[in-house]
Amino acid sequence: MSKPANALLLCLLAATLGVLLAACPPAMGNVDWAAKSEQVYTKLPDATEATKLAEHGEKLFNSQACGSCHATGAARGGLMGPPLGGVGAAVTSRHAGDELAARRWMYKHIRDPQKWPGPHHGSDEYKSSAMPSYRGLQDQDVSALVEFLWTLR
Ligand code: HEC
Repeated sequence: MSKPANALLLCLLAATLGVLLAACPPAMGNVDWAAKSEQVYTKLPDATEATKLAEHGEKLFNSQACGSCHATGAARGGLMGPPLGGVGAAVTSRHAGDELAARRWMYKHIRDPQKWPGPHHGSDEYKSSAMPSYRGLQDQDVSALVEFLWTLR
């Protein structure tokens, strides 16, 4: 192959690579969820925002089938995961009342429950299933789920 043709090929290759890199989402396995949780939660949502998020979060809770493993009240109801009634208050108290830190933890738990496990993790009661990681959701969707969880009693 002649030199100019080689150069052209290289250029084409570089251009294709550039497009591919730009089009691909960042490698899903390597996201620093702890850092992300701090970017997403710089402050608490105000009451209006929280209500809007929670409404969207309820829809996501259903569409993501969280309810196939979790009851939204205080009773387990025969499901594989722990019931989520009061979970916002429980997580907040585990963070010494720091609402922002509690939401950051919840964000990380939804993104990667194996790395940020809940208090029932590995317990005999709930070992029949593991919670999946929700890495593909938009940040605003995770925030919506978090605010919905905070409404559960
Ligand atoms: C296949 C079943 C399954 C699905 C689906 C599932 N979870 Fe879980 N989840 C579990 C199990 C089992 C645990 C307990 C072990 C642990 O904490 O890792 C858990 C723990 C939790 C906790 C911590 C509870 C506590 O007491 O602190 C929260 C919050 C939670 N899940 C929310 C969700 C949300 C929101 C979704 C949907 C986006 C979801 N889960 C989907 C099985 C599931």
